[in-house]
Amino acid sequence: MATSAVRSAPASQVAKGEPRIRVRGLGKRYGTLEVFRNIDFDVGEREIVAIVGPSGCGKTTLLRCIDGLLPHDAGEIRVGDERVTEPIAGVAMVFQHFGLFPWKTVFENVAYGLRMAGAPKSEIERRVPEFIKLVGLSGFESAFPYQMSGGMQQRCGLARALAVEPNVLLMDEPFAAVDAQTREILQFELLHIWEQRPTAMIFVTHSIEEAVLLGHRVIVLKGRPSSIHETITIDLPNPRTRDTLREPRFAELREQVWGTLMREAREAEFHLER
Ligand SMILES: Nc1ncnc2c1ncn2[C@@H]1O[C@H](COP(=O)(O)OP(=O)(O)O)[C@@H](O)[C@H]1O
Ligand SMILES: [Mg+2]
Repeated sequence: MATSAVRSAPASQVAKGEPRIRVRGLGKRYGTLEVFRNIDFDVGEREIVAIVGPSGCGKTTLLRCIDGLLPHDAGEIRVGDERVTEPIAGVAMVFQHFGLFPWKTVFENVAYGLRMAGAPKSEIERRVPEFIKLVGLSGFESAFPYQMSGGMQQRCGLARALAVEPNVLLMDEPFAAVDAQTREILQFELLHIWEQRPTAMIFVTHSIEEAVLLGHRVIVLKGRPSSIHETITIDLPNPRTRDTLREPRFAELREQVWGTLMREAREAEFHLER
């Protein structure tokens, strides 16, 4: 069966391509608060790297540095051949709280990035409906964000990011604000869309399960200031499906990430109990 042949390809055999993102010795502070230091990692041009870490460890800050929205204080970030010092073309972000313009319709929200990039009207008329369809929002072109559920708003946020045909997608806890069932649907839809249009993707989440399900590798950030404590290769078959959630290896990897993330917290609790 063709599908099982595809599913049996381990993640290690997935062509990640050349590194698209290179982060070296990255450090960031807000005044006296040092958020993270010595962050080093690469993301391949067709690779999903999930980043997990406790709230406040600097996940959003890291993504905003990579997006060029925030200056970093040490080290460097490269996207392709470009050194990031300001927002660069080809990088798109999906925000936790959707980041839509409340006064714009779905069509206009999705068109935003294309208009900013100076795309001609004919191209906007052609591409926007294509991406609205890709995320399953056809028929809602004239709706405003307040008329839609959280899941629909995030589909719109995703379409807006995809419409500029980025080669880097930065996702900041994109499904944290939707209900559990919608979240699961969106996770698999995202994987499906990614299979059709693979990019370098950084997926930030505080959900260990989500990180293991989506990531080809999982980076665990922790400490104050935070740094990378472990990078775990997720050697599950691709593409990931609902069956992935039932595989014993999925549970093992989830436990491994949990162990890395929670070791200190568990030890602290243990000492308190004694
Ligand atoms: N603009 C800012 N100015 C000062 N401190 C900030 C700012 N943004 C975030 N912080 C602080 O930096 C730390 C990391 O924040 P953030 O990147 O939002 O973490 P995460 O996304 O992992 O929850 C937190 O302690 C937060 O309070
Ligand atoms: Mg955050």
